[in-house]
Amino acid sequence: MSYNPPPNPNLKKPSTPSVPKSTSVYVQGQPIPADQLLPIHGKRDFKLASFVSVEQLNVLGMDHIMTRAGNIKSNPIKYNKLAKGKLMYSLFFSNSTRTRFSTETAWTKLGGTVISLEGTDSTSIAKGESIDHTFNMFTGYEPDFIALRAPIEYLPQYMAVKHPDITWINCGDGSNEHPTQAMLDLFTIKEKFEDLSKVKIAFVGDIKYQRTIKSFVKVLVKFGVQMVFVAPSTLHAKEELEAFGVEYIAKDISELSEVVQTVDVVYSGRPQLERMSLEDRELYKDGTHQINLAVMGSSKALIMHALPINSAFPDIHTELDSDPRSIYFEQAANGLWARMAIMSLLMGI
Ligand code: CP
Repeated sequence: MSYNPPPNPNLKKPSTPSVPKSTSVYVQGQPIPADQLLPIHGKRDFKLASFVSVEQLNVLGMDHIMTRAGNIKSNPIKYNKLAKGKLMYSLFFSNSTRTRFSTETAWTKLGGTVISLEGTDSTSIAKGESIDHTFNMFTGYEPDFIALRAPIEYLPQYMAVKHPDITWINCGDGSNEHPTQAMLDLFTIKEKFEDLSKVKIAFVGDIKYQRTIKSFVKVLVKFGVQMVFVAPSTLHAKEELEAFGVEYIAKDISELSEVVQTVDVVYSGRPQLERMSLEDRELYKDGTHQINLAVMGSSKALIMHALPINSAFPDIHTELDSDPRSIYFEQAANGLWARMAIMSLLMGI
């Protein structure tokens, strides 16, 4: 039983040190670019690697993940002891429903043990400890895997290079990447279409800040998928994605109804209101740019979304939730199989 003494009125309440939010304050050094990370080109390469960027993967590596995910989905019991005796830290410094729960469920279904953290308030980061010192501690207790979501771009990449004895999985770093999401998106689209080079997909909405879209685009370009980007003029990411070899066909968001008639898949992403300018936020405040029944019309396109959809500013109307074209819940459920596949391959199995 705990005892809380009454407060002493003569004691001055200590002021809480403010914890700076900037990455550079914590991380001693520069973020490590993805091209310094181990590429994963074949099945055997997985064993030594962390998975922190889709840039590590070529088509062969992704095919290994897809095949394994399909095998696990059809017979999950066969894989339920692969991680027996192994420990994963699940460190989610920013909010998550799908990625955190599917990652922890995946590891548990592989037979492993999870220690989980959400936010930083319960850690000594709240007392001003640096990110570097904090991760020196986490890694010192020798978990086998660390699944990390951070609001800081490149933090998983930085840690994977600094602490290479641990297997790191990037579960989303700021507005940069969400590589495991890209794998579950790829798995979902491959379940629907045999030849991806014949598929045309429209990415809709906030292309500039949506890490799920950026990671998926970098993957799809390697499969020859045709892409069109439909966004308000200030929320395109033309130059950034062209640097990855993407043929960036830009359409204005006002052309959405016409574009959905011409594609096989419509992929929308939650407007990242927390990252965009006040002017850009205004674009979304009254439900403008929403995908709904009227916009979809007679289009046969499948509707994908990484989720969540912000119910205050829904980029997809709930009237489409039960529409047969909507596959976003199925897509999210596939996160379990894709993540089990990635983890098993990273264990070298
Ligand atoms: N898709 C996705 O990353 O969802 P969460 O933020 O809920 O994990």
